[in-house]
Amino acid sequence: MIAIGADHAGYALKEKVKQHLIDAGYEVKDYGTYSEERCDYPVFGKKVADAVASGECEKGVLVCGTGVGISLAANKVKGIRAGVCSDATTARLIKQHNNANIVAFGARIVGEELAYDIVDAFLNAEFLGGRHADRVALLEQIEEENFK
Ligand code: RB5
Repeated sequence: MIAIGADHAGYALKEKVKQHLIDAGYEVKDYGTYSEERCDYPVFGKKVADAVASGECEKGVLVCGTGVGISLAANKVKGIRAGVCSDATTARLIKQHNNANIVAFGARIVGEELAYDIVDAFLNAEFLGGRHADRVALLEQIEEENFK
């Protein structure tokens, strides 16, 4: 199950990306927002992050104006590694190297075709482990406040 969420700036692109994922055969849970009425990106970043951190959803997709605000909110939730992407190469690498569990992008930055490439690259990539796992473990130590 893929969790998806956006604020008002990301709403229209979120709807398109949701349909793209459904067409590709993914099960998608939409955590809002559900219209272009102005709202606050931290609310939706947290909803998707909680769904991923709890295991309810395997991965997440977030959209706001830039992708930054909503990713900052998601990254406040323990266990979340959200990366902002404006290209498919970064989207692949945040999974392969960082084991990111949420991909974020900006509706004011990327167009719909690029957004599809970004989510496809992220969802099709696998974490490479090895030295990258050691670094992800260091990230987890920061969360636990016992980084040495
Ligand atoms: C909303 O206007 C905008 O600030 C928001 O979507 C996002 O870009 C924040 O990072």
